[in-house]
Amino acid sequence: MNKILYISSEAFPLIKTGGLADVAGSLPVALLKHSQDVRLLLPAYPEVLKQIKKNKVLAKTRYHNQPVKIIETRLPGSRVTVWLVDCPAAFNRPGGPYTDHHGREWDDNALRFAIFCYAAVDIALNKLLPNWQPDVVHCNDWQSGLVPALLSLHAKRPATVFTIHNLAYQGLFNKQTFLDLKLPDALWHLDGLEFYDQLSFIKGGLAYADKITAVSPNYAKEILQPEYSYGLGGLLKYRKKDLSGILNGIDEKYWNPGTDHYLQQKYNRHSLNKKPLNKTALQQELALPIDPTIPLIGMVSRLVEQKGLEIILDYLPTMLTLPVQFVILGTGESHYELLLSNEASRHPDKLHVTIGYDEALAHRIEAASDMYLMPSIFEPCGLNQLYSLRYGTLPIVTPVGGLADTVIDASEKNIAYGTANGFVLKGKDSAALLAATKRALTMYQQPEQWRQLQHNAMSGDFSWQTSAKHYIDLYQQAVKAVS
Ligand code: ADP
Ligand code: GLC
Repeated sequence: MNKILYISSEAFPLIKTGGLADVAGSLPVALLKHSQDVRLLLPAYPEVLKQIKKNKVLAKTRYHNQPVKIIETRLPGSRVTVWLVDCPAAFNRPGGPYTDHHGREWDDNALRFAIFCYAAVDIALNKLLPNWQPDVVHCNDWQSGLVPALLSLHAKRPATVFTIHNLAYQGLFNKQTFLDLKLPDALWHLDGLEFYDQLSFIKGGLAYADKITAVSPNYAKEILQPEYSYGLGGLLKYRKKDLSGILNGIDEKYWNPGTDHYLQQKYNRHSLNKKPLNKTALQQELALPIDPTIPLIGMVSRLVEQKGLEIILDYLPTMLTLPVQFVILGTGESHYELLLSNEASRHPDKLHVTIGYDEALAHRIEAASDMYLMPSIFEPCGLNQLYSLRYGTLPIVTPVGGLADTVIDASEKNIAYGTANGFVLKGKDSAALLAATKRALTMYQQPEQWRQLQHNAMSGDFSWQTSAKHYIDLYQQAVKAVS
């Protein structure tokens, strides 16, 4: 049994902006099931404090002159212990975890997440909570990047693992911030936290963690290439022997069409005939023409360039001349929100766009749609294609990152092998997206063939079982590396 301090800036159902929350809300649960002693460390945002019932203050301290408490609670619906870093000046404010209501990054993000990291380091070194010291500290994304760097300065320290969920977000700040944070000088160099004279939080993880993982095997390879590495390819190549890819799983407690309480009609792969009831219910809810036979294409996404918004906007006008319906739910960059909403107002019978964040609607879209649109230009893992597969909603995806690892194209050969479960673009442009969607629409007209693809999709095992074991093996390797 390992003692694991799992550090994340979001975790479902307490606080979520994207897939990191899904992972941090489910991997620790899977680790616990594998008898690992895991504690989840999370900032105490107002949404989190609102949801917790029982809580106990375990420790009090100060960082950068701000009072900080460590509060113990539970991850709702599980037995996982959560430790909240309660620093009101840093975290107790309206808005999102990283941005204000207008989507602008908080200007003190470096300080906010440095405080989060200091608390993690003190727990890791047994300074804050005397009764528990981890064997492994598992960090996720740039917000926890300083932890491996700061721990590296201590001779007796736990092993560190750093998981890359998205290399595009690096936590870059100017050099003055490094000085203001009073970070140790020993960390300021090209092989350390410095990135072209800037402070890079993510380099703290990439340069100093004992083991590094990416959230899919394919992304672990892609990030060695300039196209996907955002200037960090050299460092990652240097760390190659410690870098591996472990595919995310999905939380069947929340994402299972057989038990999903958000659905109008539950179903499983043996009762797929009930799935269209979710389609007509959604058409009614969103005031689209009610027609169980028209192909419905869904999308739930952050509206950012990564998710292929440029090619989607390019392809929509052609698609909207065909007998299809689109339902899009998302929030993100305001120009994408506006362009999509405008397109929807021009084609109210064919395209419905909801701007906002809506967990329940996300589930209903997954269940109601026939196809799921995910033409990302890069995708470290992607969870929505996994949810779609689980819901018998065939994904249309670009051949990148975790999408390439999980979606098997409905080519003649793959259909014959019985492995096909979706449609993979032959390229990353709008022409390729159009071609793949047209292939899907043609296949949709062959109900037996379509049903077979849905069966294949729904039979895939994307639970955390296997991936949690891979993490446990890696923890053991990391512990060995530091002992
Ligand atoms: P990323 O983390 O890059 O945004 P993922 O596919 O890994 O992409 O995970 C996205 C998660 O966020 C999924 O659980 C998805 O359902 C959810 N999500 C994204 N946008 C919304 C939204 N507007 N409303 C509800 N859920 C959303
Ligand atoms: C990031 C990635 C996404 C991945 C998620 C969880 O947000 O963009 O591909 O699924 O993290 O690992």
